[in-house]
Amino acid sequence: MKNYLSINDIDSLPKLVKEAINSKKNPTADKALGANKTIGLLFFNNSLRTRLSTQKAALNLGMEVIVMNFGNEGWALEYADGTVMDQGTSEHVKEAAQVVSQYCDIIGIRAFAELKDKEKDEAEIVLNNFKKYASVPIVNMESSIGHPLQALTDAITIEENNTKKRPKVVLSWAPHPKALPHAVANSFVEMMQLQDADFVLTHPEGYELNPELTKGITIEYDQEKALENADFVSVKNWSNYIDYGKVMNTDSNWKMTKEKLGNAKFMHCLPVRRNVVVEDAVLDSNQSLVIEQANNRTYAAQIVLKKILEKL
Ligand code: CP
Repeated sequence: MKNYLSINDIDSLPKLVKEAINSKKNPTADKALGANKTIGLLFFNNSLRTRLSTQKAALNLGMEVIVMNFGNEGWALEYADGTVMDQGTSEHVKEAAQVVSQYCDIIGIRAFAELKDKEKDEAEIVLNNFKKYASVPIVNMESSIGHPLQALTDAITIEENNTKKRPKVVLSWAPHPKALPHAVANSFVEMMQLQDADFVLTHPEGYELNPELTKGITIEYDQEKALENADFVSVKNWSNYIDYGKVMNTDSNWKMTKEKLGNAKFMHCLPVRRNVVVEDAVLDSNQSLVIEQANNRTYAAQIVLKKILEKL
């Protein structure tokens, strides 16, 4: 693997999931692979799981880790070509990406959507410019439109908990007071398209994701109907995609409850707002996989870093 920017950078998802599950049995077996190699993790936004699990993954592989909160500690970066930089930005990404490449063998980038300008967000300006100007591989730690490490994690978690040949998996929208990006939902949809499963997407009308991503996917606006006989229910809020970045609906009827969940397993990428997105009774039950998912973030990152290190 050269870079990990999207779930589609994986050659065979089922094969990689099996390798990740295998690496959990002996997480430090490949410690020699990363010896004398350094990963730089650049955070333009907050994180708990991604920051710690990616560090843990790199340490398991014997790498050195450098972490920088670029958003508030780095120079404000310029991304446009030919700009006269006499305003707020202090350093061009052309230099910054090449400079970080002098210190690191792999660079991880977290840069969320700003949710103001759809076209700008979809251009993935931070991620793509680092990819363009860095001389080392890039790992997407959640960009404007995708969170492929989370999607790989979710594939691992489904595989570990699945008891059926073809499980039913539902991705359900949930209410949230703040405008959240589409990245987690987008990558979950992309990941499910690579799975042998009955996949249903449910959300209020008007909350459609990018139609290019959901082509051929079953969308059911009736949440109760969508949840019938589900084996796995992944819940996530996203802001409006059509009226871009707006919160148009906070209907608490879309909150996940124990009653609605039935016998299904509950999934969420975290962080989650209790009793807004999902009720306590779900999160505190043995149907919740959220801590297993958080644990699997390490093994998703580790298998990705391993594949990249093998090609260095
Ligand atoms: N799920 C996830 O990416 O968590 P963090 O935002 O805490 O990294």
